Amino acid sequence: MARVFVTRRLPGTALERLAAEHEVEVWPGDMPPSAEELRARTAAAEGLLSLLTERIDAELLAAAPKLRAIANYAIGFDNVDVEAVAARDIPVGVTPDVLTDATADFALALMLAAARRVVEGHRDVVDGKWRTWEPQGWLGADVHGATLAVIGAGRIGRAVAKRAAGFEMEVLMIDLGDDLDAALQRADFVSLHAPLTPETHHLIDAAKLALMKPTAILVNTARGPIVDKVALAAALEEGRLAAAALDVTDPEPLPPGDPLMHAPNLIVTPHIASATGTARAAMADRAVDNLLAALAGEPMPYPAPIG
Ligand code: DGY
Repeated sequence: MARVFVTRRLPGTALERLAAEHEVEVWPGDMPPSAEELRARTAAAEGLLSLLTERIDAELLAAAPKLRAIANYAIGFDNVDVEAVAARDIPVGVTPDVLTDATADFALALMLAAARRVVEGHRDVVDGKWRTWEPQGWLGADVHGATLAVIGAGRIGRAVAKRAAGFEMEVLMIDLGDDLDAALQRADFVSLHAPLTPETHHLIDAAKLALMKPTAILVNTARGPIVDKVALAAALEEGRLAAAALDVTDPEPLPPGDPLMHAPNLIVTPHIASATGTARAAMADRAVDNLLAALAGEPMPYPAPIG
């Protein structure tokens, strides 16, 4: 029986399976543990089930000499210092596949919402601004038949492309190394699905935004720092981009005075692309499967693709 620290309560029954075999402490708060609290709780642990809100770095590892398995409750693992864990030879697990469809559904939801001004329309009705059916009111952009650039051709990007085919969109699949500029110039919609790495940090910067059509719509369900938010806010303010819909921001949440917060034609949601009950419970199952295997001395079934 090993000690395991779990940094938040999780949906579903996966933690019961973990607790049946190990001594499990679950952080009781709704907010993440602070770095100090995380270090204190992980100090005696052999297993850690972390969220993307926790920074897993050399300092944490130094304070956790017994730690031998980390299961990240996410498909992304940019919150983990991969060099620090590699130096300790600690396996890191992720939660692939089970959030692909939920995330792809949500990317389409954002695309449709931004193109058809759903949030703005709702707000205007609730605020009593809607007086009558207006031939020229709330005109949006066609999604069907439009050109979509999917940046990142992994599982989620491919699932988005599959859905876009149902809308008879022309899909440009772009992986790192492909001609991103040409795709940005052609696309009516750009949807980001790349992992956050040093190569993709600010991948969409002022220069890339300048390549996009002024009628184009940017959707980000990947990671906030892939987009230079100052450049995005300026492009929206100056009408150089029609709209943006972001499920992820830099930082999360955006602070009140953030330049993006009051940018026009912007939809922001609280990092909920994977937030269906089934997806989040299945993610917990994957994370627990990873921990149970590693703590039993076996390879994790869903290792992070490191190196
Ligand atoms: C992930 O898994 O990386 C998502 O961003 C959260 O579900």
